[in-house]
Amino acid sequence: MMDLLIPDKTHDESRQGEALMLNAETAKNNGRKLYIESYGCAMNFSDSEIVASILAERGFETTTDHTLADVIFINTCSIRENAEQRVRNRLKEFTITKVKNPGLVVGVLGCMAERLKSKFLEEEKLVDVVVGPDAYRDLPNLIDKVDDGQKAVNVLLSREETYADISPVRLNSNGINAFVSIMRGCDNMCSFCVVPFTRGRERSRDPLSIEAECRDLFEKGYREVTLLGQNVDSYKWSPTQTLPGREGLEKAENQKVSPTGGDLEGATTNFANLLERIALIDPDLRVRFSTSHPKDITDEVLHTINKYDNICNYIHLPVQSGNSRILDLMNRTYDREWYINRIDAIRRIIPDCAISTDIITGFCSETDEEHKDTVSMMDYVKYDFAYMFKYSERPGTLAAKRYADDIPEEVKQKRLTEIVAKQQEYSFYRMQARIGTVERVLIEGFSKKSDKDYCGRSDQNAMVIFPVGEGYKPGQYVNVLIERSTTATLIGKVIPQTP
Ligand code: SAH
Ligand code: SF4
Ligand code: F3S
Repeated sequence: MMDLLIPDKTHDESRQGEALMLNAETAKNNGRKLYIESYGCAMNFSDSEIVASILAERGFETTTDHTLADVIFINTCSIRENAEQRVRNRLKEFTITKVKNPGLVVGVLGCMAERLKSKFLEEEKLVDVVVGPDAYRDLPNLIDKVDDGQKAVNVLLSREETYADISPVRLNSNGINAFVSIMRGCDNMCSFCVVPFTRGRERSRDPLSIEAECRDLFEKGYREVTLLGQNVDSYKWSPTQTLPGREGLEKAENQKVSPTGGDLEGATTNFANLLERIALIDPDLRVRFSTSHPKDITDEVLHTINKYDNICNYIHLPVQSGNSRILDLMNRTYDREWYINRIDAIRRIIPDCAISTDIITGFCSETDEEHKDTVSMMDYVKYDFAYMFKYSERPGTLAAKRYADDIPEEVKQKRLTEIVAKQQEYSFYRMQARIGTVERVLIEGFSKKSDKDYCGRSDQNAMVIFPVGEGYKPGQYVNVLIERSTTATLIGKVIPQTP
């Protein structure tokens, strides 16, 4: 498969045979339209771009209108029950499309596909294909099967697959920001979480291929990459690893770029090394990353962030709970003190770093007192932003097996409402603190509300709105003097660049 994506100069007979087959298949699918809709985390959105690339190789074009599609894929999320419910509802809507077009192929991809496997075909008659996150290379064959009148399933998880050699087709792109997947899976086994079951074992992607992808994006005009992994701090690449795509990439020009993290010199590359390597591509390429894990984020990573202006001063550090007993039940492998220590390290090493978090309310057996520890953690950190959720029991997880989901819905909701209100206050507080400062903003496009304004993000990831003007356009950096704010947005005006 790799040969199809990275051209190789050796033409033996079997390769010619493969090429002929590929041509025939591309011709067969030529002009067939793929519509793909993604739910869940950034990694799913990034995977959809890999899927689009795999199918583009076979002649498929993407469409943004599902009524025109020959193939509809829905890339799903299982993280909470309501995420799954949304997908089920959406599938019902596609029933009408299928009635109008009986040749339509409907596929379920991603985490729900992996969790439910062939059960999906029984439960949702509309669905023709079920494909897990590590089996996307098999999609062309699976579609062929459906074309031949069968249903098709591939939910094999892999210890090696990173799709390193695949150059994603950017979907719904503004040509400025892109997600770049640096690892897959998760080995952490937080007791509430379904991800280790749906995404399999953790594996890191070859740094050369990550660098090549980022460099290519920069050359195409992109100015911001977000490096993605469930736990980026445990990124680890050893040069003895050989994965698909390596050979082609070793030959690539990017090899000349100074690798800061060993690898080509024979050392292991950790996340700090990788960050540095990507930051060195160009000072005008902004580097973001998600998600950091409190147990693994090192001072070395923090010093690297501080060292490079183009590595953004923004860390998403999910706490989940501020109480050590609950953290233990959650199997997060850190306690309140450890988390506070990491926050203090961020404040010490990176002055002016924005911090956001994820919080779960009403985890099994959580008392009011323990919930107050979460509230007091919010008071301590004063997060810039937070994603907050009610605990949702997921089948098969450690928590589902070991603990009763015993906090009544109204209590979960009350605690959630309380922390949402608290977060509003702190978001506003953080925004207000920026008034009078000058923010370096990467212009992303017109603001949602008006084409008289541009929007873009500050280094600390705050959304900034300012009037459209002469001499600057999307994809460029401007200095914006902040004049006022809402809870979610900074508002200001462009001032001349200081030399
Ligand atoms: N890898 C990231 C999180 C990925 S899932 C990390 O370790 O931080 C994103 C968020 O969804 C989690 O941080 C958690 O807050 C929330 N989440 C995960 N499982 C959940 C569940 N069963 N119920 C409610 N929220 C959950
Ligand atoms: Fe889930 Fe924990 Fe892994 Fe995050 S680190 S994906 S919460 S198991
Ligand atoms: Fe959802 Fe899977 Fe991401 S469960 S949050 S799409 S890894």
